[in-house]
Amino acid sequence: MSGKLTLIVGPMYSGKTTELLSFVEIYKLGKKKIRVFKPKLDVRYGVDKVKAHSGIEEKAIPVESPREILETLDGDEKAVFVDEVQFFSEEMYDVARELVDRDVDVFCAGLDMTYKQNPFKTTANLLSLADIVIKKKAVCSICGEHNATLSFKISGEESEIDIGGEEKYIAVCRDCYNGLMRGDIDVHSHVI
Ligand code: ADP
Ligand code: TMP
Ligand code: MG
Ligand code: ZN
Repeated sequence: MSGKLTLIVGPMYSGKTTELLSFVEIYKLGKKKIRVFKPKLDVRYGVDKVKAHSGIEEKAIPVESPREILETLDGDEKAVFVDEVQFFSEEMYDVARELVDRDVDVFCAGLDMTYKQNPFKTTANLLSLADIVIKKKAVCSICGEHNATLSFKISGEESEIDIGGEEKYIAVCRDCYNGLMRGDIDVHSHVI
């Protein structure tokens, strides 16, 4: 028997981490052995935990490369959970495949796009492998509708890898994103 890959994607604040942690809870309730991983470079809430914007959190093992995930496992885990998967190298694809082939369920959560609307390559690759894809939406910070599919940068550097939260990014729908880019919408007018 093989495991299943579930991929949770969407913009910032769309509930990716919350959804990932709800799957963690299901496996824990069933007394299944699991491991939770996160990329070392994500230091937003400290190095050894996965945390949602709502405050819920879970202990996690920080790793630099996807291979370290394989090296850390005992071999009897039923599921592996990875948050912020967009920050891992493309080797994550091979690691996820190896795990499902070993009968381990894999749950990954991450951004599908940068704030510039470029795909995060690792997430895009995993989309092709996933058995189940959960695409989340956030509440648009400008118009208040539950249709935000994009992240928009409100401050900070140009770099497409830039750790941060509400001080740097908002979630917006496509119309509001384009309005902001054209200058028709004032970035300070956001409701959230
Ligand atoms: P993600 O990992 O996708 O960034 P989280 O699971 O960490 O999302 O956080 C989701 C939580 O963020 C929501 O339950 C809500 O409390 C909060 N939140 C803050 N801003 C927004 C927004 N614009 N849309 C939806 N939820 C938001
Ligand atoms: P989140 O999806 O759990 O809210 O976290 C996304 C993280 O990714 C956060 O630290 C900000 C970072 N990020 C980038 O590095 N580049 C981007 O283009 C975006 C949108 C977010
Ligand atoms: Mg998150
Ligand atoms: Zn909007």
